[in-house]
Amino acid sequence: MDFDQIIQCIKEFSPNRDNLGDMLHRIQNMHPEQYIPGEAIAQISLYTKIPVVEILGTISFYNMFSLQPRGKYIIRVCKSYKCDKKESDLILKKLLAHYNIPQAGQTSQNKLITVDSTECLGKCKSCSAVSINNKYLRDVNHKNVITLVEEYIQNENLVNSVL
Ligand code: FES
Repeated sequence: MDFDQIIQCIKEFSPNRDNLGDMLHRIQNMHPEQYIPGEAIAQISLYTKIPVVEILGTISFYNMFSLQPRGKYIIRVCKSYKCDKKESDLILKKLLAHYNIPQAGQTSQNKLITVDSTECLGKCKSCSAVSINNKYLRDVNHKNVITLVEEYIQNENLVNSVL
C-alpha cells in the first residue's frame, strides 16, 4: 500500500474523531498485509488533528487492529473464560507448532498464516471458538483444527480459481 492509497483511504471520511475507527478499519482491510502502517497513523493524525499517541491507544485497545504485518489467513483462538480454557490452549499450541510460529500474534515465515489468541469471539455456545479471517470453524478441537484450517484454505483457493 503506497502513500497515495493511504491518503485516498483516509479522505473517504470527513476529518473528525468519530470516523477514526472506520479509517483504521479501511486502511487495515485495504493493506495486503492486513495491518496499519506507521505512515497511515501519521497521515490520519495530520488529517484529523488527533494526536498520534491517541490513535495508537485506540489501535492497542481493540485487538482486531494490528501494527504488525499479518498473513493472508488470520486465525484467532478465543481465550475467554466461557470457552474451554484447556482445549483453547491445546488448539493454540497445535496451531503454533504446526505452522512453526514462535508465539501468538506472530506470522508464519511464508507470510500465509497468523495465529493469535483473542477475547470472546461471540460464539460461546460453540466453544472452543476459533475463527479464520472472520469465519468460524465448526466443532473444532485440538485434534481436528489443522485439518479444518487446511480445508478452509483449500476451499477458498478453489472458489477463487473459478471466479
Ligand atoms: S468465550 Fe469463547 S467465544 Fe465467547
